Amino acid sequence: MKTVDKATETARRRYDRNASFYDMMEAVLERYRLRRWRELQWSKVEGTKILEVGVGTGKNFSYYPVGAEIVAIDFSTRMLARAREKAAKHDVKVELLEMDAQALQFEDNTFDTVVGSTVFCSVPDPVRGLMEVERVCKLGGKVVLLEHVLSANIILGRLMNLANPFVVRMAGANINRRTVENVGKSGLVAERVTDLGWDIFKLIEARKTDSSSRAAAAA
Ligand SMILES: C[S@@+](CC[C@H](N)C(=O)[O-])C[C@H]1O[C@@H](n2cnc3c(N)ncnc32)[C@H](O)[C@@H]1O
Repeated sequence: MKTVDKATETARRRYDRNASFYDMMEAVLERYRLRRWRELQWSKVEGTKILEVGVGTGKNFSYYPVGAEIVAIDFSTRMLARAREKAAKHDVKVELLEMDAQALQFEDNTFDTVVGSTVFCSVPDPVRGLMEVERVCKLGGKVVLLEHVLSANIILGRLMNLANPFVVRMAGANINRRTVENVGKSGLVAERVTDLGWDIFKLIEARKTDSSSRAAAAA
């Protein structure tokens, strides 16, 4: 896939590099926390036309609502290849597409709900990605994000800022993103933010409203 800029190409390559051991890297957090949080996240989905952004290796497949029409995208060829294998093995009904979240190839107002789990920590320009999410979400539609963010605790926040350059090089994810604020900047309206753990993991439920579309258009 041709990516738009150097930062995006670098980020994409990191996920390609880590794809074969990504599930292993996340195994402990997955088992003790993420599973439960994913279940909660997918229980918030509305409607039947769903977009999953940054599908990765397909860890959300087991939570997909029965009967929904789901399209899932990722910019990493190798992460997507693992998702394809998983989908085939477990007969998951999903259309998997290689695509950059910052330049979604869908019409405006296409999806009832857009979902992403631990994605906007990695998208190089998260506000641009979230504006794209806002654009393709139907008016009145929902956006449900499970994200880790920069801690509001001053000491922990400083440590996260210090560690971020190393983490991002190793894992591809930034640990100092302000995703709740970024959702607001995209024009989406955050309706509910639930702290899931340590004031770092958040479930963000947002909506595209009339005013959110106006804000995005004015930006
Ligand atoms: C931390 S992984 C999370 C994967 C999956 N959502 C999960 O919960 O396991 C982040 C994923 O987002 C993808 N990603 C990051 N930036 C992206 C972008 N600009 N466009 C599409 N996918 C992106 C990465 O390739 C990776 O698969």
